[in-house]
Amino acid sequence: MKNKLYELSQKKEDAKLGGGEQKIKSQYDKGKLTARERIELLVDEGSFEEIGMFVKHRAMDFGLDKQNYPGDGVVTGFAKIDGRAIALFSQDFTVFGGSLSETHAEKIVKIMKLAMKAGIPIIGLNDSGGARIQEGVNSLGGYADIFLLNTLASGVVPQISVILGPCAGGAVYSPAITDFIFMTRKTSHMFVTGPNVVKTVTHEDVTFEELGGADTHGQKSGVAHFVYDNEIETLSNVRKLLSFIPSNFKEKSIQFEFDLDLSAENTKLREILPDNPNKPYDMKEVILNLVDDGDFFEVHKNYAENIICGFARLGGMSVGIVANQPQVLAGVLDINASVKSARFVRFCDAFNIPLLVLVDVPGFLPGTEQEWNGIIRHGAKLLFAFSEATVPKVTLIIRKAYGGAYDVMNSKHIRGDYNFAWPTAEIAVMGPKGAVEIIFKKEIDSSENPEQELELKLNEYIEKFANPYIAAERGFLDDIIDPKETRKVLINAFDLLKNKVDNNPKKKHSNIPL
Ligand code: HXC
Repeated sequence: MKNKLYELSQKKEDAKLGGGEQKIKSQYDKGKLTARERIELLVDEGSFEEIGMFVKHRAMDFGLDKQNYPGDGVVTGFAKIDGRAIALFSQDFTVFGGSLSETHAEKIVKIMKLAMKAGIPIIGLNDSGGARIQEGVNSLGGYADIFLLNTLASGVVPQISVILGPCAGGAVYSPAITDFIFMTRKTSHMFVTGPNVVKTVTHEDVTFEELGGADTHGQKSGVAHFVYDNEIETLSNVRKLLSFIPSNFKEKSIQFEFDLDLSAENTKLREILPDNPNKPYDMKEVILNLVDDGDFFEVHKNYAENIICGFARLGGMSVGIVANQPQVLAGVLDINASVKSARFVRFCDAFNIPLLVLVDVPGFLPGTEQEWNGIIRHGAKLLFAFSEATVPKVTLIIRKAYGGAYDVMNSKHIRGDYNFAWPTAEIAVMGPKGAVEIIFKKEIDSSENPEQELELKLNEYIEKFANPYIAAERGFLDDIIDPKETRKVLINAFDLLKNKVDNNPKKKHSNIPL
């Protein structure tokens, strides 16, 4: 027995070395940690149970028969994060550049299948040169097997991709199908074709960082949901994200113990809005004054900043928040904001996370750029996502709710459960000036004093429409509340809705405008 145990421990030590000391050193030289160090940082201490440590590839071509490392370039297994089970894989760049072989793919598919059966989130730590070139179509097939599993697991368990090195070519499509992508500045890159191919095809000179670095994807493309400076920060924020989301689609939203004081009022909320309704303010200030401990975990923080999406807790319960940001583009809905928030709404709905919608929206962004790029079909995504969502849905109109954007932002008409407004709300087909110039055009043009007439009509319009009372009279709003009571009102609303059941008609699946 003693000898057998010694042999086992030797084999395990050998496997843990991956591609060997030299390759580990070169990994450090690139500013990256090893696959196993990353796992240690991510999961609860001592909780990692590895499977597939002894798996080796079966390839024989191009000298691969003489190069075989136990584990085959990916560490797979199960662990706990804050005591909750997760499945994970961590690609080992020290073995063939973390490239994906047939067996490497089989290991990933194995834990994904188990995770789906067990109802636990899947976390992938990606650091790979892509398909293992020497294995040809076998490695391409391996990718396709993963893509299929990513697709089948979508909406069953949360899937999180963490990019900590290269992720190029078709390989990017596995993270792209998952729910959230994390990237680390300077060391992670994602692109379909690298700078050299770009140069050949389009004659553009572009660096790795410009083409597919973390900030490019966090700000320009929206591919990355979270961007951090280093691996430690990145991995600790993966843990934080998990604290807001359930482990699978059958679980309810997470409810933490919370010492609730519902008598507490927050008068600060009365002071955030400027007197002039055309002046901006920071919607994040509203959010931070509403949520538990001022803790808001923002998704896509630097992308389409005219809409804010993120997770927080209200009275201990996890909620997803979607809010217009008047400070950026006046909070208008454009293509990127619609796509960003629609995907967020669908994630929350898939995993039973209630939605809080804070509205201050002047409408959709006009212009040829938006129209020619399809604001109609992209804007429809957000409308569709809110309409389809059956989780508890609470809306608070803070200031403007104009035009189609009023309907889209979780209005009563598309199954908002509780729709509130502050007394500052303005709900109308369009803003006062634009509206008056259309409906009173003749009167204004024919008036002896057009400016005075415009002013008169403006005041008439503002008095009639720039308030929440007509919507409340019709029952489109359930109540108009004093801002200082908002937190209490929202917590009570979500508490009342916590066992809400709503269904969509039976169908194979819906056909969201893509
Ligand atoms: C086999 C690979 C590999 C690959 C890297 N290596 N990529 N081996 N298949 N795809 C090996 C290298 O030969 C090297 O081995 C070791 O990994 C480390 O690579 P380096 O080049 O030394 O590292 P670095 O300078 O950091 O560059 C990393 C890299 C570069 C940018 C990823 O290696 C690279 O460009 N690799 C090729 C990427 C690629 O084109 N992959 C195919 C993409 S298409 P030694 O033994 O020298 O240490 C694709 C299709 C997916 O993936 C399709 C899905 C549908």
